[in-house]
Amino acid sequence: MMKKNLPIGVIDSGVGGLSVLKRLQQALPQEEFIYIGDTARTPYGSRSEAQVRQFVEEVLCWLDQQHIKLAVIACNTITVLGVDTLQREHKFPLIGMSKGAELVLKASRNKKIGVMATPFTVSTEAHKKAILAQNPQAQVYLQACPKFVPLIEKEILEGPEVEAAVAEYTAPLKQAGVDTVILSCTHYPFIYEAISKDFGSGVQVIDPAEATAAQAVQLLQDNGWLREAKGAAVKICSTGDIGRVRRLAEYMLPQGAYDFQQVSL
Ligand code: DGL
Repeated sequence: MMKKNLPIGVIDSGVGGLSVLKRLQQALPQEEFIYIGDTARTPYGSRSEAQVRQFVEEVLCWLDQQHIKLAVIACNTITVLGVDTLQREHKFPLIGMSKGAELVLKASRNKKIGVMATPFTVSTEAHKKAILAQNPQAQVYLQACPKFVPLIEKEILEGPEVEAAVAEYTAPLKQAGVDTVILSCTHYPFIYEAISKDFGSGVQVIDPAEATAAQAVQLLQDNGWLREAKGAAVKICSTGDIGRVRRLAEYMLPQGAYDFQQVSL
């Protein structure tokens, strides 16, 4: 098959990457996608680096067998491992989540910026370094939010448990006086409304998924790999309960033709 007609792989530890798939579908309506969420082993963000690397390698080997032209790592926890260190012998290029440094610096007036992410992502300080590299004067406040991913994976997207967790993690950022916050975990857009409501209108909450989709478009354009005719159904695979993934996909994605499959890596 011609390279341009191959699908694009999209990876996450669970359902979070569906928020990126949504932006990819909007930016690239002709393309075919194969989404793989390792929902049987989510969350990755509370695990060791060695374990996350082993799991990601298994997912990438599975994608090798699917014959894709590009893999989008729709997960910040995997991206901060260093996309170049994951490439190894895989047959397709990889792009990771945008760190959104330009976006947040443009949006922020007082240059006090909050980053909400998994404990693993926060421990690497990758987003802080990316923002400071562009503006050393900025003040960056990192907030680990370990309760969010388990709630979202359990389909708890609103109500008192979500509100309490949101209030716990927004409090230190409010105290610091941030005017802009970036959601540096792809699960968090599932509870975007709750987070944004809690901060109130004085704080902009930014999801870098659109910027990530723009990078994918650029890479496909540069290589002449854009698909010309509309592709078939979007395939959504998970290593765990596919019913749960289907419900969360229906919540996040536009209506369309989807093919759901439980797979083992
Ligand atoms: N969705 C992921 C991220 O962007 C990871 C969540 C997790 O497995 O902890 O960080």
